[in-house]
Amino acid sequence: MLVSATKMLQDAVKGKYAVGQFNINNLEWTKAILQTAQENNSPVILGVSEGAGKYMTGMKTVAAMVKAMIEDLNITVPVALHLDHGSYDACLKCIDAGFSSVMFDGSHFPIEENVQKTTELVNICHSKGISIEAEVGSIGGEEDGVIGAGEVADPEECKKIADLGVDFLAAGIGNIHGKYPENWKGLDFDALGATKKLIGDLPLVLHGGTGIPADMIKTAISLGVAKINVNTECQLYFQAATRKYIEEGKDLIGKGFDPRKILAPGFEAIKEIVKEKMELFGSIDKA
Ligand code: 13P
Repeated sequence: MLVSATKMLQDAVKGKYAVGQFNINNLEWTKAILQTAQENNSPVILGVSEGAGKYMTGMKTVAAMVKAMIEDLNITVPVALHLDHGSYDACLKCIDAGFSSVMFDGSHFPIEENVQKTTELVNICHSKGISIEAEVGSIGGEEDGVIGAGEVADPEECKKIADLGVDFLAAGIGNIHGKYPENWKGLDFDALGATKKLIGDLPLVLHGGTGIPADMIKTAISLGVAKINVNTECQLYFQAATRKYIEEGKDLIGKGFDPRKILAPGFEAIKEIVKEKMELFGSIDKA
């Protein structure tokens, strides 16, 4: 069932668990994530970056594929199709294409410009029943060629953006996309707590879910994080399983060259890591 992410995340805040956002790149990833959500009776958010959208030929293709797949696979758990780190124009494109949720990443704009653009998009989204995420304090690491510094968001600025009516908020707390460096200082729970105090029950989003230790994930959830984004870890699992298949020479045996066979181990690996994350986040049986 394709829905906006608003209610599923409000429920998560109340129930003290988080819903995973898993990024998709193609049909296999989408199918693996949807099936895992259904098998575990978990709500789920499919994240689509602008780059992945382009790779899949465009946001209309993505929305059509996801909607048809939900129907063909009889997926009854709540699924949100969400634009990840969108520009203003990408948000409009995804709203038009039939996404049920968007993220406007205005974190690199001066706060006043972030406020103005976020306000406009909140109004458009809410007139169509679409949920919207905003970001304060850019998330570090590299995503689609953009490198952020891993800022810690100012709680007052978070409050300012929260008050615009966004449905959930990504606040930088020292988290970064991709693998964490050896000397990473960990998440800034003081900043998270201060933000939580100001914004009340508004669901918070933790980006850069890959490689954050389980105890930090649990603390973050206890402090109001209700959505956790995971991308790189799925890529690494997919890569390792595919590498193993080829290195073991399985593609050279019988019909092992069939693309459906080559992609099967990676597909199963994604299912495995997504289930593991759903267990850690506590979203199993919360559909
Ligand atoms: P990772 O790739 O570090 O898991 O981060 C994903 C993310 O935050 C997408 O917005």
